[in-house]
Amino acid sequence: MNESASGDIPVPPFGGQPRPELGRVIVPEDELQGRVAALGKEITADYADRPPLLVGVLKGAFLFMSDLARRIDLPVELDFMAVSSYGSATKTSGVVRIIKDLDTDLTDRHVLIVEDIVDSGLTLAYLRKNLLARGPASLDVCALLVRDGNAATELDLRYVGFRIPPAFVVGYGLDVGERYRNLPFVCHYDGAI
Ligand code: IMP
Ligand code: MG
Repeated sequence: MNESASGDIPVPPFGGQPRPELGRVIVPEDELQGRVAALGKEITADYADRPPLLVGVLKGAFLFMSDLARRIDLPVELDFMAVSSYGSATKTSGVVRIIKDLDTDLTDRHVLIVEDIVDSGLTLAYLRKNLLARGPASLDVCALLVRDGNAATELDLRYVGFRIPPAFVVGYGLDVGERYRNLPFVCHYDGAI
């Protein structure tokens, strides 16, 4: 159903500048695009008779959501939520604040949450509970990345792009201090956080 990221490639030149803070590429662009296409196909088949409402979690999921939506051959609707978790840049506390709520009423809708990465799973656990209380017909999750070796493995994740080893990553929507979201691949971040 999902793949383990196994890439270990040097970061390609970017704007001609050396990037010592970026570590190895763990999911190259072609693997990302291939996997997103496969997920889109799976979602198209699973939701054929009940087009989903995709709920993207900003900002991290914006690139994934944009590519995924184009690979779903159904009349999907899109909405976004922005959340912020209290805690340090790299550790979630589990207390989540909604910065921007949905515009759409979820009553009787088939909702698919689109997330960038599930780490402790605390953000997702909060979101699920919050959205379930709004009476959707169904609620499932599509996460691009799941970090191995923590509570996330116990969460009910319907679609997963890649399982990755326990190290901080950036690119393809994921940031450190708002940077690197526009990298077309996912790589380790070795700099200061
Ligand atoms: P969780 O609540 O611990 O599962 O954390 C999930 C959120 O933390 C994600 O939606 C990301 O915004 C952020 N996050 C977790 N790991 C990383 C990472 O390796 N790079 C960038 N952001 C991350
Ligand atoms: Mg984030």
